[in-house]
Amino acid sequence: MDEFIPMSRPYIGEEEIDAVSEVLKSGWITTGPKCSEFEEKFAKLVGVPYTVSVSSGTAGMHLVLKLMGIGPGDEVITPSMTFASTVNQITLAGARPVFADVDYNTMLIKPEEVDRLISPRTKAIIPVHFAGAPVDMDAIEQASRGIPVIEDAAHAIGTIYKGAHVGSRGNVAIFSFHPIKNITTAEGGMVVASDEFMVKGLKLLRFHGIERDAWKRYGKASDPGYDIKEPGFKYNMPDIQAALGLAQLSKIDEITNKRNRIASMYLDGLSDVEGIDLPGIPGYPHTHAWHLFVVKIKSMDRGGFMRALADNNIGYGLHFPACHKLSYVRKKFGDVYLPETDVLSEKILSIPIYPGMNDEQVYRVIDVIKRVLG
Ligand SMILES: Cc1ncc(COP(=O)(O)O)c(C=O)c1O
Repeated sequence: MDEFIPMSRPYIGEEEIDAVSEVLKSGWITTGPKCSEFEEKFAKLVGVPYTVSVSSGTAGMHLVLKLMGIGPGDEVITPSMTFASTVNQITLAGARPVFADVDYNTMLIKPEEVDRLISPRTKAIIPVHFAGAPVDMDAIEQASRGIPVIEDAAHAIGTIYKGAHVGSRGNVAIFSFHPIKNITTAEGGMVVASDEFMVKGLKLLRFHGIERDAWKRYGKASDPGYDIKEPGFKYNMPDIQAALGLAQLSKIDEITNKRNRIASMYLDGLSDVEGIDLPGIPGYPHTHAWHLFVVKIKSMDRGGFMRALADNNIGYGLHFPACHKLSYVRKKFGDVYLPETDVLSEKILSIPIYPGMNDEQVYRVIDVIKRVLG
């Protein structure tokens, strides 16, 4: 039997292991200097003055919604084709998720949907740079009529839209470093915000509401006291994880290039397979981060296709079960009809893509798909 090809695998080498070991030996392992360095270097990548690290993308979304004052009676527009964490956070804030349909080919939110769904209660719009492809932000910002846009950039580390990194347009943007993501800190997230009130609030709320960083309070001859003006959470990123992130960040170009190479091989090798539709590529200038490679299975049922992949020792993922079909969402907010998302939710499957995947493995996946669907 051929070896198992997972859907995703973190790209961890000796640099990461050394970086984490160095922190472990240093005597300071939680949030501290490595975290600050990671925030600075990530800000440089995105092209913004500063970023705020958090314990996950979900934690970042929680804080952002809170700082925007989103609560009962408010609506937030987001695609249903997203990770449930966003919809959970909107719901937990007491607000209502209003689901926008996505384009079948690119799986990106349709700007005309944003325009259609805006109401006097709309307090934010959360487009998703799905699978590492950038949303058409010019069109979204135009459709948003000045309502705040929170860019879900969980998939978009390395994604360039019209010459600039995703997250650099002045909106709030949230990145994720979950192990499946293009760079990882095991768990973690980064929030980009240009508004000073938002940045200050994020820094306070991510650590109990305490104004000064712990590592500054525990230093030599420092003042260990603190005050809290508003209670906060425990969403800080430890230095062990930031060190891992720094080592990963130094390889971002290599990671993006490797992912792009695999995607090109798939687009080429699967182009004549009639039983699937391949990811659509946006027409505007961009660099795709190829976080995921999502195909749509047309000629057989998805369950059978997954079993065939499993029989051939090939992994797969589902990004995502449509959020408007989740039990609690239907129960709480009722049924919605989203023509393209409804079709996608039955047909999509993510096939293996990760920087450590070699050509032979990519060809094996292509051969198996051709054999199963051919
Ligand atoms: C589209 C999207 N949004 C948000 C998240 C949440 O990120 P995290 O897992 O870091 O909380 C994820 C991923 O997990 C995601 O895929």
